[in-house]
Formats: sequence, C-alpha cells, structure tokens
Amino acid sequence: MHQQLEKKLAKLKGTEAAIVFPTGYMANVGTISALVDEKDTVIIDRLNHASIIDACKLSKAKLQVYPHKDMKALEKILQKSGKYQKRLIVTDHVFSMDGDIAPVAEIAKLAEKYDAMLMTDDAHYTGIYEGVGAGIGVGKEKVEVRMGTLSKALGSLGGFVCGSKDLIDYLRNKARSFIYTTALPPANCAAAIAAIDLILETRPKLLKNLEIGHWKTPIIPIILGSAEKTLEASQKLFDQGIFVSAIRPPTVPKGQARLRITITAQHTKEDLKCLASSLQELIPPAEKQ
Ligand SMILES: Cc1ncc(COP(=O)(O)O)c(C=O)c1O
Repeated sequence: MHQQLEKKLAKLKGTEAAIVFPTGYMANVGTISALVDEKDTVIIDRLNHASIIDACKLSKAKLQVYPHKDMKALEKILQKSGKYQKRLIVTDHVFSMDGDIAPVAEIAKLAEKYDAMLMTDDAHYTGIYEGVGAGIGVGKEKVEVRMGTLSKALGSLGGFVCGSKDLIDYLRNKARSFIYTTALPPANCAAAIAAIDLILETRPKLLKNLEIGHWKTPIIPIILGSAEKTLEASQKLFDQGIFVSAIRPPTVPKGQARLRITITAQHTKEDLKCLASSLQELIPPAEKQ
C-alpha cells in the first residue's frame, strides 16, 4: 500500500519518486533536518507553517527569515550566504492562514542564481493545482523538494515528499522521523490512493467554485481582529448550519484572529450564496478586510 501510494504521489507531482511519512509535520521535520546542518543556512518566508520552523530549529542550520513574499529581502540574504556550505530555501506554496500563493517561479530563479536548494510545502496546494498551470504555482521551474500532506484535500492522514530518486533514497536512509517511528497504517494509504482519483475527477468543480472574485485558492480568510469576536462569528455561522473555523493566536499573530473559509468541490452555488449572505448579515462592511 505504501509503495502504491508513493508511486501515485510521484505521478501526481511529476517527479521520479516519493516517500510517505506518518504526518506532514514529520515530513517537514525529517526532511529539513536531513538536508541541512550547522554548516548550512535555511531561509524561510515569515509566514511559513510552524512545522517548518520547528524543523529548521532541529536541523541546527542558521535560520534566516525574509518578510512575507519579499523577493528583494530574500535576494539580500542569499547574496550574503556564501559562507555557508549549503543554502536551503523553504516556502509554503499556498499559505495556510492567508490562502495566498508564493511566488515560486521567482524564488526558483533566485535559488538557481545563488546555488540554493528549493523546497515547497504543498500542504494546501496538493490535489488542487497539479497540472493545472496557468500562472498558479509551479510550472517547469526547478523545485528539488516537494513536500505535502495527505491530511488536507486528500482527507486522510500522513505526509510525503516528492523529488528525484536520489533525494528520496537519501531521505529513506537519513530522515529520522521516517526511520524511528511507526509507519502510516495501510488503511490511510488506501484512503489517500482513492482520494487522489476522486480529486482528479472532481477538481473541475472545485476550480469553478474558486472563480469567486480575485481569489484563487480554497482558503479565504476574513480577519476580524479579536479572538472573542471571531469565535462568536464562527458560532453564529455554525448555528445557521455553516462550519467556518475560528483561527486565533498563537496560530496567527495577536490582533489578527480570523474566520477561515474553506471552499470544496462539494459546495453548490446555493451553499456559496448562503454563506455570502450570512457573512453580510454578520459582519458590517467596515470590519471586512
Ligand atoms: C502548510 C502546512 N504544512 C504542514 C502541515 C502539517 O501537516 P500534518 O497535519 O499532516 O502534520 C500543515 C497542517 O497542519 C500545514 O498547513
């Protein structure tokens, strides 16, 4: 089951090979700490997921952070990174709390120019955009390490990394969170295998649902500021039969609590209209950002 899933993921991502971890968190921790150490530097976007930050700390590599999607700042860091043996840039592909997309093509160009490896965390990208192209995320640019999780669009549990055969063989023998823990239960692999087929079948419907305004990803944040206000709004929506999670500190900075709307392929036009009118009633226009 694990091998079948790995083959399927590699095919989905268009890479030579893949390796499956027990969770996405463990995929980040095992991969980053296997790729860099104290002689190296790891350079990350300020809004990257917590599992990437923890992984960087564990790796002992020099951690350098650039402001969100700031390519000038990233280049400045890279210009001064000659003293490190290796450079690894890591970015969320679709940012988990804001739903915006990393400028992967630009980052890949900088990575090439300054001889850095590039790793994307595709947790919120997987199953939505592979092969869709058209200016969204990865095209043909070089991304050596494509990490993802089975726990978002695929609705299962587990994490994975896709890349070259050499990279995957290396991780199989070096990533401690792969070697020293129990593997994913086969049932979760089977569920993910089935989910990939289902996703490819239903994706056109999801993409149609995403044609709302300028937004291009299934994550739509509505920042309300205070945690109390956000919890109250989430509860009111729940009472109307709409499940929208309230995201609060420490997941987001203080004062930036938000409703995080997730659009799926199963939502109908009526569902989306109903959500829009409930939000309109709930949140006065001045509070929407
Ligand atoms: C961007 C990102 N990376 C990694 C993870 C960790 O994945 P998992 O929940 O499978 O451990 C998550 C979600 O929790 C995430 O949003």
